[in-house]
Amino acid sequence: MSFDITELSGDRSEQYRQLREQAESLLAGETDRVANSANLAALIFHALPDLNWAGFYFTRGGELVVGPFQGKPACVRIAWGRGVCGTAAATGETQVVADVHAFPGHIACDADSRSEIVVPLRHGGAVVGVLDLDSPKPGRFDEVDRAGLEGLAAVFVETLSD
Ligand code: SME
Repeated sequence: MSFDITELSGDRSEQYRQLREQAESLLAGETDRVANSANLAALIFHALPDLNWAGFYFTRGGELVVGPFQGKPACVRIAWGRGVCGTAAATGETQVVADVHAFPGHIACDADSRSEIVVPLRHGGAVVGVLDLDSPKPGRFDEVDRAGLEGLAAVFVETLSD
């Protein structure tokens, strides 16, 4: 099977609606966590502008461990509650950070990153990981991104069998 990433059109909310449809079709019928997170990271990284990193951290033994992503090699383990990712995991709330240098405890994996959004992945009453996007542009992410990426995270979580 080949998958074409079709050009997104319309306003940004409409673009996220189209991206969600593409994600649903890309992940349809597959429950493997690595396969689906790898493909979703690639879809997001290539579909959305101004990103330098897009990918997953998964909960393992009370900390976050890097999963499939697109971008430069990243920090492998992040303590629960640390950095933007650890804060999203510990609070269960999406973190939108306009200026990563102003975020206490931000973990700089790629020096190019200036803003970041991290969406927790809730499954079966627990946070099983996070979806993390970084941008070289300050203030890259807003409420449209939050709503859109929470929708994409939901598409991923719905495919999980365990
Ligand atoms: N900046 C993140 C670490 C992960 S990288 O951005 C890929 C943080 O503070 O949690």
